[in-house]
Amino acid sequence: MALNDRFLKACRREQVDCTPVWFMRQAGRYMAEYRAIRAQHSLLEICQQPELAAQVTLQPVRALGVDAAILFADILLPLMPMGINLEFAKGEGPVIHNPIGTRADVDALRTVEPRESLAHVLDTVRLVRRELDGHTPLIGFAGAPFTLASYIIEGGASRNYLKTKRLMYGEARTWHRLMAKLSCVVIDYLTAQVEAGAQAVQLFDSWVGTLSPDDYREYVLPHSRFIIEQVQRTGVPIIHFGTDSATLLPLMKEAGGDVIGLDWRTPLDWGWDVLGDAVAVQGNLDPTALFAPRHVLENKVKAILDQAANRPGHIFNLGHGILQETPVDNVKAVVEMVHEFSKREGA
Ligand code: CP3
Repeated sequence: MALNDRFLKACRREQVDCTPVWFMRQAGRYMAEYRAIRAQHSLLEICQQPELAAQVTLQPVRALGVDAAILFADILLPLMPMGINLEFAKGEGPVIHNPIGTRADVDALRTVEPRESLAHVLDTVRLVRRELDGHTPLIGFAGAPFTLASYIIEGGASRNYLKTKRLMYGEARTWHRLMAKLSCVVIDYLTAQVEAGAQAVQLFDSWVGTLSPDDYREYVLPHSRFIIEQVQRTGVPIIHFGTDSATLLPLMKEAGGDVIGLDWRTPLDWGWDVLGDAVAVQGNLDPTALFAPRHVLENKVKAILDQAANRPGHIFNLGHGILQETPVDNVKAVVEMVHEFSKREGA
């Protein structure tokens, strides 16, 4: 296998031979290889056993030919050593049995030494790097503090984030204390991932789109900016991703990131104009387009590449994670389409 650094080049807005592509949630239940392992082990068992997690991380790299691997883990893992009782319940997604709501709860959350309590994740990073042998770059990741806080407070997924916003509006000091605590954990965790070998990191603020720009500025931006500033010291590119983020883009840019991830609701060219040329852009095919007939899918891939117009710094991805029932052949086809349609002159 030849060295493939087009993903890292695109993060730095350098010229590439063709547009790099990877998929959020590229390892998972839509792949038979993953289901085979998942039939024997729970999600947490896979995450906690570096050999298994490394194997799952590599599955989509081998099966799809994507230009980057993403560590197999979950954004909620660092909450466990903080004292959060987390379960991935069958058919329900994550459930937190001891959600928090008071200042005393926030104070009781423990700080985390990732090199000890998350050593299994760091071992996975090292194993994957050894297996990939420099051929395909490895992305590490963490949840952003707003998204993590929403799980801790709500106890799981939420529609209106009522408890989260009640704490945010009603007890701003407690809110900022929680966000600061989570930020410290995220900084140490991402830094440790880079030390272990992650070559880029993504900050997932999956649910931040529930906030207005004013609330984002007041309750989130200082914390996300602090994390990104600190993690930037490692020297690896940082991808800053949110969904439903169209009105937040100028503020997400202010918070930072070498690459900003767009969801599919935002036209890529419009979003890039808002962000300006000083950042790279990742995205943004609707994950449900992978269920469309091939010619429709092809038109949608072409439309995104046309909007990117071979500007340096485009990383092709979905606008959010791959869905469970996605046909693998269509995912593979998108990798081929992106590489083929974006081939640069003379490359
Ligand atoms: O991208 C990858 O291939 C790497 C692995 C990865 C997982 N979770 C494994 C996982 C990544 C990057 C994540 C991030 C994550 N986890 C996010 C941010 C990304 C996003 O989608 O917005 C969030 C919000 C979570 C929290 C979480 N974990 C939820 C909501 C769920 C349940 C939803 C679902 O798809 O079932 C999980 C479980 C989870 N994490 C699975 C996987 C592969 C489900 C698979 C299983 O049970 O085997």
